[in-house]
Amino acid sequence: MHERMPRRRRRFDDDHDDDHDDDHDDRPTRRRAEVDPGTGTGGPPTGDRWSTWADATHGPRPTPGWLVTAAGAVDTELGVLKTGKEADVHLLERAVPDGPACLLAAKRYRSAEHRAFHRDATYLEGRRVRRSRETRAMAHRTAFGRELLAGQWAGAEFAALGTLHAAGVAVPYPVSLDGTELILEFLGDAAGRAAPRLAATRPTGAELRDWWHQLTEALLGLARLGWTHGDLSAYNVLVDEGRIVLIDLPQVVDLVGNPHGADVLVRDVRRIGGWSTARDDGIDPEALFHRLVAEAGLAGRDA
Ligand SMILES: Nc1ncnc2c1ncn2[C@@H]1O[C@H](COP(=O)(O)OP(=O)(O)OP(=O)(O)O)[C@@H](O)[C@H]1O
Ligand SMILES: [Mg+2]
Repeated sequence: MHERMPRRRRRFDDDHDDDHDDDHDDRPTRRRAEVDPGTGTGGPPTGDRWSTWADATHGPRPTPGWLVTAAGAVDTELGVLKTGKEADVHLLERAVPDGPACLLAAKRYRSAEHRAFHRDATYLEGRRVRRSRETRAMAHRTAFGRELLAGQWAGAEFAALGTLHAAGVAVPYPVSLDGTELILEFLGDAAGRAAPRLAATRPTGAELRDWWHQLTEALLGLARLGWTHGDLSAYNVLVDEGRIVLIDLPQVVDLVGNPHGADVLVRDVRRIGGWSTARDDGIDPEALFHRLVAEAGLAGRDA
């Protein structure tokens, strides 16, 4: 959450040697799309579009106080936070002209041929899609199937975030879902600088221990629901002013329902554990793994 007053924050993301996409800069390029008042397209007099709030599916109640929900609010695109393999994340300002404003992250899933599909196979295996025509279309990657998958990814992430947020797990508040666009609480400062990914930070000592403790709590929260992240790494964890927040959860894996659940849990813990023990060998990922297995009720199974 962010206030309108600028806050001082420590910038971890200024040095990038640990970050695989070092062309990336969390500061969005400011841009205001042209709105032609003469075209009569029904757009607002300022900004890029009317707020999508009214027509979208809303996140869990209670709606947070910082969120602008007024019908007369307009959305202004402030730039791209990150282009990814499956989605692009944009920074938006939603504001009532001369009134309250908030910053939001809009995660827009790529449709059809512009996406990589590395996550789709595990996803399809773990999920029962009732209508077999749709299952076949997705499995065979027809144009119809690809379109369905893009929408399903957005819907799956929205649903997972709603459940996790309601359960008190540290994830961004899912504001709304509209087709392939997922609107999220923006994690970052009032100037629009996104919180750094864990991978771009250099914690040591007590700070690292505190972050490991927060990660443990978040992962226990997932395990309590019978889930593991499914793509956990230091790139899918943000550090928002010392608060650890899990992001990028469309592929959240059901530990019992998915035949690869136990393997995915091992991989998640191994990746985040490896990053952490490289910085402090007193951290014990194996102990975390056993706590997660117990919390998810998998103890006694062949995990
Ligand atoms: N709520 C948010 N607030 C601020 N920044 C965010 C938010 N969500 C995502 N980002 C930024 O956008 C990046 C990409 O988001 P995310 O990992 O969810 O998408 P992705 O398309 O799966 O990306 P990738 O393929 O790189 O994993 C994040 O690493 C983070 O820098
Ligand atoms: Mg990601």
